[in-house]
Amino acid sequence: MINYTEKIPNNVDLGRDRVLQRALEHWQPAYMGWWYDMGPNESHNFDVYLRTAVSVEPDGWAQFDYVKMPEYRWGVFLQPRDEKRLVNFGVHKGDPAWQEVPGEYRSTLRRVIVTQGDTEPASVEQQRMLGFSCPSMYDLRNIFQVNVEEGRHLWAMVYLLHRYFGRDGREEAEALLARRSGDADNPRILGAFNEPTPDWLAFYMFTFFTDRDGKFQLCALAESGFDPLARTCRFMLTEEAHHMFVGETGVGRIIQRTCEVMKENKVEDPSDVRALGVIDLQTIQKYLNFHYSVTLDLYGSDVSSNAANYYTSGLKGRFRETKLDDDHVLSEAQYPVFEVAGGRIAARDVPALTALNERLRDDYIDEITDGVGRWQRVIDNAGIPFRLTLPHKGFHRAIGNFAGHFISPAGEVLSEEAWKKHEFEWMPSPKDHAYVQSLMIGRVVEPGKFANWIAPPVRGINNKPLDFEYVRFN
Ligand SMILES: [Fe+2]
Ligand SMILES: [Fe+2]
Repeated sequence: MINYTEKIPNNVDLGRDRVLQRALEHWQPAYMGWWYDMGPNESHNFDVYLRTAVSVEPDGWAQFDYVKMPEYRWGVFLQPRDEKRLVNFGVHKGDPAWQEVPGEYRSTLRRVIVTQGDTEPASVEQQRMLGFSCPSMYDLRNIFQVNVEEGRHLWAMVYLLHRYFGRDGREEAEALLARRSGDADNPRILGAFNEPTPDWLAFYMFTFFTDRDGKFQLCALAESGFDPLARTCRFMLTEEAHHMFVGETGVGRIIQRTCEVMKENKVEDPSDVRALGVIDLQTIQKYLNFHYSVTLDLYGSDVSSNAANYYTSGLKGRFRETKLDDDHVLSEAQYPVFEVAGGRIAARDVPALTALNERLRDDYIDEITDGVGRWQRVIDNAGIPFRLTLPHKGFHRAIGNFAGHFISPAGEVLSEEAWKKHEFEWMPSPKDHAYVQSLMIGRVVEPGKFANWIAPPVRGINNKPLDFEYVRFN
């Protein structure tokens, strides 16, 4: 169970480790300073109907109540330890899982944890202005829930840094509060986490696409031979599921509302659709193209010796590693990656060990494809002849084999000039952004009311009605 009587709620018996407890209590005010500066803007006095983790058991870990966000019980929660757990892949396969950091992997492991940890506060920073333009109280509550949980994910990674990495870890924990999304001098580590999230369509796309990258990275780390990391990530995954739900249903509700308005008014042309105050499907497709492509970059290079090392060392596994039916060493296996050769895209088999980034990306693409299919059904059910499509995975990429190439959404290799001619047919233009933002000036906060451009959800939070007062502004 989680001990809530301590200053830092935890299920790791923090009270017994005075040095660690003091280190984290020292970090806590710096974290609060960051939250006041970079957390949701002007929200500190709101009472928000939030869920808080009260146990790490798979069923019933959540408790719902009104909380002021700065008083949210951020803490350290790990899935319970399985004494018999082993390292399940790589050269140490079959050894007991590590309870301390193996000396030879110390700096690699620290880098993995810092890179994951850096994404958590970054997304809070990216989303901090969106409360001013929320489409409903329900949606406002959801973004705040996502934000406090990303804050907790930062705590989860900082605990590992403090507990297992000594002084280096403490310095990294400070640096996690010093970097800022989009800052020219001290940016966040990964590209997608420095992109702005300027409007609610971008927010929902981000939680669908980019939080799902988070899920896949956490799944790979949940297989780690370093047991405290694995247990930490397992619990984070339960929270991540809600973030992806917010994204998928958010985009789905926008599509639904657009389709309703198109049908009611018998319009199809995007400018007619816009005249009715909803987001045309073409613009939704462009946002999809953008968020999908920048998120694909997060998986890293298609062929990567780092990825091979992480795997061989037992630090980062594959998606559902222990469910896969192979030798879990991959010394012989091959895997196809794609590259541009002679003006065409062609597959090439490479050692599977070096293609683990690409493999995780492909697993991710499978899940994304299903989600986009569910959005498509909303359009089909409305009888509207429009197809949402995932662009080719080489489209608009800045990392890996496609970086520096100009690939169309259909997968043609183009010249830079030809690609640029179509850029704003494929990606949101400044005008598209301006239109979407013009819909989102001011917040809609009357209980039960929703902005014109989004349909209400099917049900409320925790079985509460849609007109429940999810946020009290005081
Ligand atoms: Fe997270
Ligand atoms: Fe998340």
